Amino acid sequence: MILLSITIFWLSVCVVPLSEDPSITVEAHVGSTALLPCHLRKVFTQTPHIRWHADNEVVFERSFDVTHEGPGYEGRVDIPEEELCKGNCSLVLKDVRFTDHTFYRSFVVEHVEDTNTDKSTEINKIQLDVFQSVSAQVGSTAVLPCDWRHLSIETPHVEWSIGREIVFERKGKESSQGKGYEGRVDVPEEELLKGNCSLVLKNVSVTDETLYSSYILMTDKKKPVLVQNIKVSVSEKSEESKDDPSASSAGGINKAIIITICILCSVPLILLQFSYGAPDHRIIEMRSQCISLKSTSEHQ
Ligand SMILES: *[C@@H]1O[C@H](CO)[C@@H](O)[C@H](O)[C@H]1NC(C)=O
Ligand SMILES: *[C@@H]1O[C@H](CO)[C@@H](O)[C@H](O)[C@H]1NC(C)=O
Ligand SMILES: *[C@@H]1O[C@H](CO)[C@@H](O)[C@H](O)[C@H]1NC(C)=O
Repeated sequence: MILLSITIFWLSVCVVPLSEDPSITVEAHVGSTALLPCHLRKVFTQTPHIRWHADNEVVFERSFDVTHEGPGYEGRVDIPEEELCKGNCSLVLKDVRFTDHTFYRSFVVEHVEDTNTDKSTEINKIQLDVFQSVSAQVGSTAVLPCDWRHLSIETPHVEWSIGREIVFERKGKESSQGKGYEGRVDVPEEELLKGNCSLVLKNVSVTDETLYSSYILMTDKKKPVLVQNIKVSVSEKSEESKDDPSASSAGGINKAIIITICILCSVPLILLQFSYGAPDHRIIEMRSQCISLKSTSEHQ
């Protein structure tokens, strides 16, 4: 579990320099465990009070006497207390769902004595990108999953896009296809009426390899609501790919190098974790400090 988290952490850290956004972006696969990094620079005399938000809702909160999990996050979120004692306020988010795709903000909450109010200071902002993978062969037909059967929508209106570029749109009987996708894409009307908004992509080509997003458009909401992000990877026809597996684009090679470096740099960390696994007085000292501070504050 810890090893997995470390690997995810390093993989996500390595992804950061590639994005142009100054805030931290963490990518997570549906069903995986994501680690939203957070680190306290200041030293606290007792277990600090940390609160994680998504939009305006509390996701998780922990202090020496409070632990709170936000709605929809029950049993899936944690900041291990021993880590928090060390100033590591990273949020562990298990069983990642599409609905977790949003902006997360961490805060440190301080109690201001004389005014008797809680002052919170923002630590950092994290964008969590949740996606699912689909792989397809050149010339084949791919189905990009999308599902809103749990919602009841009178006039379903779906939009599939790559960034801001629309690939396909359907509202009832009316549908339109984006440039380069003419005659190749569809969300069958009868499927959409059942809440199945999956995109059928025919005659897959190498240029189709990218990130697709599906949105639901509702009359009462101005902005389209994201349903699913699908990363499509395209492989050459099986005979060719078996002969020469290195026949990928330069981007693919770069990605492979980065991932290899990430794995290599997580190896010493994993080994480090093993050596720390043995009883270490530094950690025990810190823990007991946290516990003793906890008990003294309870007596007050
Ligand atoms: C912070 O804590 C998480 C688990 O809560 C752990 O996976 C991660 O390795 C820790 N980071 C550091 C720098 O110790
Ligand atoms: C959803 O629609 C796609 C394409 O129209 C189809 O391949 C798939 O089987 C459907 N899924 C379900 C659960 O009906
Ligand atoms: C599939 O796409 C290729 C170009 O990517 C095109 O040359 C070919 O004619 C298409 N095949 C069909 C059956 O549409």
